[in-house]
Amino acid sequence: MDSSESRKPLDQLPKESFWDNPLYQWDGFWYRAGHLDAAMALRSQYTARHDDVILASPMKTGTTWLKALCFCIMRTQPQEEDAQKIDEGTLVKSDDGEDPLVKNHPAVYVQTLEVQVFTAKQPLDISGMKSPRLFHTHLPYSALPDSIKNSKCKIVYIARNPKDTLVSMWHFFNKLRTPEQGPYPFDKAFECFCKGVSHFGPFLDHVLQYWNESLKAPDKVLFLKYEDLKRDPKGHVKKLALFLGRPFTNEKKVEEVIWRCSLERLKNLEVNKNGVDPWVGMQNSAFFRTGKVGDWKNMFTTEMSERLDHITLQKLEGSGLHL
Ligand code: A3P
Repeated sequence: MDSSESRKPLDQLPKESFWDNPLYQWDGFWYRAGHLDAAMALRSQYTARHDDVILASPMKTGTTWLKALCFCIMRTQPQEEDAQKIDEGTLVKSDDGEDPLVKNHPAVYVQTLEVQVFTAKQPLDISGMKSPRLFHTHLPYSALPDSIKNSKCKIVYIARNPKDTLVSMWHFFNKLRTPEQGPYPFDKAFECFCKGVSHFGPFLDHVLQYWNESLKAPDKVLFLKYEDLKRDPKGHVKKLALFLGRPFTNEKKVEEVIWRCSLERLKNLEVNKNGVDPWVGMQNSAFFRTGKVGDWKNMFTTEMSERLDHITLQKLEGSGLHL
């Protein structure tokens, strides 16, 4: 790892094409030029506080859901030590008008460090922000600033089945294409993904790094899977709250958080149906699609499925992780 926070000029870094756009490889992972600059700025300028919470994910694995859930939990659930002091009934706002998620996409409340905070041109000044701060990053574990790794701050990671991740990615990036360009050929997107070339990829290396860290330091890194959250939202949202030091004492509140952050609700809020994000001008609606486990079956041939399964099994062999 290059600890100087500097990097070689772009033209000296390995380069690959992702959907006809260049990605550059730095320390084993692929980045868009702007993300790489932001990552360098983040590495040299971000100082973690012991009570920061950092959400981490590859792209299209349920980031928006995790942002909404953690924001909701941290807003409505008291920290363990304060829990007894507070009248439970006053914590959860049951009225929609009080819920910030009605007004803005979750990304407004939980900003992605390398996209919204450490933009290459002018990093935001977050030094005066009230604790506990809640941020997100797509950076691989190895590229995180040392202060995140070495402080007591907590990391929550969300992973997803690679086949559904690729399909979700395909739909998402197609939204950035013009009608003239039409959808990018799925077989080409598949080849690219299998080669490991994707934003912040290789996907499986990204997942494996955080998985290994979660095994080494389970109190610091919580590893969640999209499919587990879908299968047992109650169990996993409770686990998440406990990890954040904000355990639920009331089943109704767990259900309320799950409902507030559900795809069905968020997708149908006016802000997410018609709003546009202020950073890159993406439609908020692009972040909410079907949320189905197994949607890959609509896009993959049997051969594709077997090939990606094989790559995944080989990569994860011996890790104890199953995706
Ligand atoms: P699909 O494209 O499979 O529907 P990210 O937030 O990391 O960009 O991931 C986007 C994926 O998460 C999309 O998957 C999207 O539909 C799904 N998603 C977004 N919000 C969700 C929520 N509240 N609950 C469950 N899934 C959600």
